[in-house]
Amino acid sequence: MGVGRLLLNILIVLAAIGGGFYQLKLKPVLATLGIGRVIQPVGNTNCAAVAPELQACEKVVLHQPSGVIYLACSTRESRTHWLPNTLTLNNTGASRADYVATYDPKSQRVTKLKTLGFDSPRGLSLHGMDVVASTTNPSELYVYLVNHRAPLTGDANVVGADSSIEVFKTTLGGSTLEYVRTVDSPLIETPNDVTGSADGQEFWVTNDHGAKTGLVRQLELLGRSATSVVYCHATEGCKYAIKNMHGNNGITQAPNGTFYVIDSSGGKLSILDKQADNTLVITDVISTDRALDNIMVDSQGHVWAAGFPKALVLIQEHFKNPDILSPSNAFRFSINTGPGAFYGEKYKVDRVFEDDGTIASGTTSAVYDADRNLLFLHGIAADKLVICKL
Ligand SMILES: *[C@@H]1O[C@H](CO)[C@@H](O)[C@H](O)[C@H]1NC(C)=O
Ligand SMILES: *[C@@H]1O[C@H](CO)[C@@H](O)[C@H](O)[C@H]1NC(C)=O
Repeated sequence: MGVGRLLLNILIVLAAIGGGFYQLKLKPVLATLGIGRVIQPVGNTNCAAVAPELQACEKVVLHQPSGVIYLACSTRESRTHWLPNTLTLNNTGASRADYVATYDPKSQRVTKLKTLGFDSPRGLSLHGMDVVASTTNPSELYVYLVNHRAPLTGDANVVGADSSIEVFKTTLGGSTLEYVRTVDSPLIETPNDVTGSADGQEFWVTNDHGAKTGLVRQLELLGRSATSVVYCHATEGCKYAIKNMHGNNGITQAPNGTFYVIDSSGGKLSILDKQADNTLVITDVISTDRALDNIMVDSQGHVWAAGFPKALVLIQEHFKNPDILSPSNAFRFSINTGPGAFYGEKYKVDRVFEDDGTIASGTTSAVYDADRNLLFLHGIAADKLVICKL
């Protein structure tokens, strides 16, 4: 049910019980979820839909030097049955043959990468992803994938998914994904997105809830901070990098090692410092007016996030029937160099793209190539890749 009818009912009952509680707690939550928001289109007039064979791609990662994008895709049908982060856990309806694809905007070529040496019968059911060029050989790329496997025993509706992180290697321009390793750990409980290192040895993954299943998850929407980032190393295992965050979702890092983590239902971007022991410490939090998803850092150092102008439409309607359009938007976060900086407004948040869903529906990744002025949009249950010139 996810942020479903049940929760809405709870919210309405609570709203009826206490007006003060409504003003203080619920009103901001409902506003962040998009209730009452009017869509204000921006940046959506110079866009094109391409690559119709690429469907339901939750995460898009740009390889900046080449301009090629990597996409973690599935089928739209599968998303309506198997979306563990919204408690949609119909194991028999899940695609176990999800794939990573590349799209080169210059040649318009789509390549679905074939796995090599990955023989797990549990298959691939993809969500978050990172693609990182090796420091020793820049044409060799490590691909880190969140894989929502079915549980080995028990009913998925009760025990949840048994998700893992899969590490692969590919070459720039290649058509294969060479298997490196599977990492599973009790700490990787509800993984959403991942950011990896340039040697294939370590990664940081967000858990988007504090429990795989159960009612306690619903309390997180009201502010319970139960999500985390887990750090894993190939030989040293996994540990918490940070705990007790709220709504953790997209994660990325800048070349200088600054980390960024999205609070999805809270509509916030956290900036974190990596410590010597690979744990993370929050140094700043930037608020927005709506729910957010994946993030990336462009070549100018600006952070881009996909936003949900109407999160309830996305979750309650589009996820159940992906043909129902869901409004999309993209934010750009930058350091404020204008007059406001003097008054303590350290960051500027620009709403660079917004659309009612006709041009781009259900966007969960908004990725900007600053060198070529191209904005790439795709979504977890979306039917196409959209490219806009801004
Ligand atoms: C689960 O998925 C299967 C296969 O698509 C479908 O036949 C079945 O109706 C689904 N069950 C529920 C409860 O949606
Ligand atoms: C690290 O890089 C980001 C993105 O380019 C930038 O905003 C930030 O100021 C940098 N931090 C430091 C400590 O240099």
